[in-house]
Amino acid sequence: MAVGDGPLSIATLTVICMVLGSSATVTYGRGDGHHLHVQYYKNTCPQAENIIREAVMEAVTLDPGVAAALVRLQFHDCFVNGCDASILLEETPSREPVEVTSPSNVGVRGFEVIDEAKTRLEKECPGTVSCADIVAFAARDASVASGIRHYLIPAGRRDGLASRAIDTKGNLPKPSSNVSVMANIFTKKGLNLHDLVTLLGSHSFGVSHCSSFDYRLYNFSQMEAMDPQLDMLFAFTLKLACPKVDKRDFKVHFDYITPNRLDNFYYLRILYGKGLLYSDQVLLEDPQAREIVARMAFDPDYWNMEFGKAMIRLGRTDVLTGTQGEIRRQCRFVNQ
Ligand code: HEM
Ligand SMILES: *[C@@H]1O[C@H](CO)[C@@H](O)[C@H](O)[C@H]1NC(C)=O
Ligand SMILES: *[C@@H]1O[C@H](CO)[C@@H](O)[C@H](O)[C@H]1NC(C)=O
Repeated sequence: MAVGDGPLSIATLTVICMVLGSSATVTYGRGDGHHLHVQYYKNTCPQAENIIREAVMEAVTLDPGVAAALVRLQFHDCFVNGCDASILLEETPSREPVEVTSPSNVGVRGFEVIDEAKTRLEKECPGTVSCADIVAFAARDASVASGIRHYLIPAGRRDGLASRAIDTKGNLPKPSSNVSVMANIFTKKGLNLHDLVTLLGSHSFGVSHCSSFDYRLYNFSQMEAMDPQLDMLFAFTLKLACPKVDKRDFKVHFDYITPNRLDNFYYLRILYGKGLLYSDQVLLEDPQAREIVARMAFDPDYWNMEFGKAMIRLGRTDVLTGTQGEIRRQCRFVNQ
């Protein structure tokens, strides 16, 4: 039995073994995440979720912007090689460039919060809580700190041993992606258009570099051709925030009115032509996506509930469980 397995999974495995009538070892494939369960650390590290929440709350109190970073961190972890904390690795034994060095991961941050939680967890219950689970809990706590209703995280993920920048290719959508490209990537991960539109609501907090969208501002004829719905006044304010006068890449808030609230304003903004990224605004051009955007814009409670559910589904993407991978001692390095 793997370290960290709780009573539920022991019971489940016992039943499976009895049914199979054999002593065959049960191994999981990189899976659909249905071997995860809530209160996973109840016996092995009862304080785990409290410790992580405290570390997240301390960080968010010092810098509210860090909450958005933690939500994005889980998305970028899960879509490349599954939710296995591979995005945290600074180097791997293979010495190949790691995921975080890929241009698709520009601006990804929040690593020090995960490190702080891990350090405290290693003191409390060494070698028990995976970095991949810390990422998932931290994203939940950051969402809840920013306005999302509490939701329970199924856990039991194990940490991956590899991280390769080239694996980001085709797995992380670009700010210039259209709906079919984004929806295709989500489908490959077992998520649907509803999940895509629901999770994109997290572009209602946090920041973007100007370089992720400024081609929409400074290429007017081009923009008109591909981007008819950018509000003119909004474009004007963005030009002020993203001057082309020097080489610096400034940052702007996705939502300049409630920059640190995770709320459904994202959908209202899109309806008004004020989506920051092309990939946000383009949702209106797909009839099905447009319908979901409209529903989310007018029913904040529904969106709030759906957001938690979609985050749970995101967190099940291609997870490692059982004896796969390892429980890292330090989140930035595989165990020696
Ligand atoms: C599906 C297509 C998506 C695209 C094309 C996309 C693209 C981007 C881009 C370009 C940025 C700004 C990066 C920068 O310039 O610094 C960003 C930020 C962000 N994204 Fe997405 N994203 C997508 C989906 C998601 C999803 C599904 C989530 C959450 C589950 C998410 C959460 C965030 C958050 C919270 C930020 C702000 C991060 C911060 O403040 O550090 N995004 N995204
Ligand atoms: C979406 O983008 C892809 C890749 O750039 C392109 O092949 C496709 O035709 C586009 N689809 C739509 C509906 O614009
Ligand atoms: C304008 O659009 C063209 C074609 O997409 C691109 O090659 C060029 O770099 C863009 N210019 C700016 C200033 O973004």
